Amino acid sequence: MAEDGRGELVGFLVGFISPDHPDRASIHLVATSPNHRRRGLGRRLYQQFFDDVSSRGVRWVTAVTWPGNRVSVAFHRAMGFTVDDGPGTQRLYGTPAYPDYEANGDDRVVFNREL
Ligand SMILES: CC(C)(COP(=O)(O)OP(=O)(O)OC[C@H]1O[C@@H](n2cnc3c(N)ncnc32)[C@H](O)[C@@H]1OP(=O)(O)O)[C@@H](O)C(=O)NCCC(=O)NCCS
Repeated sequence: MAEDGRGELVGFLVGFISPDHPDRASIHLVATSPNHRRRGLGRRLYQQFFDDVSSRGVRWVTAVTWPGNRVSVAFHRAMGFTVDDGPGTQRLYGTPAYPDYEANGDDRVVFNREL
């Protein structure tokens, strides 16, 4: 979680280390306050998460997003993630993505990053 100078919540990240693959972590959700965007807060949350999980032995981090979320796609690329464009992906909203990844109609871009 990230707070501003007055103790108000301005950002959070939800992620976890895979119980089955302890060298892998997954970022489930990240958000920063609309009034605090583009100031490096998201980058800080990701860096803290990378530092935290790498100290516990994680080597790979995965994140997913909806392909129409262009800001999220740009953000993850800026955070050093590469887009999974393997078999089963299709170009959706200009980015390789897995159709129906979460559920019917819930397409997702899958990002990977080595620490
Ligand atoms: C995605 C999100 C977390 C980014 O948070 P942020 O605090 O604005 O990110 P940062 O300021 O650390 O940005 C880091 C880099 O990401 C990229 N980036 C961030 N916002 C961008 C935008 N609107 N357009 C293009 N690139 C962007 C830039 O490269 C930026 O670096 P720069 O500002 O030096 O150019 C934020 O926009 C958000 O909460 N969005 C709504 C929730 C969401 O979609 N979450 C992701 C899916 S779970």
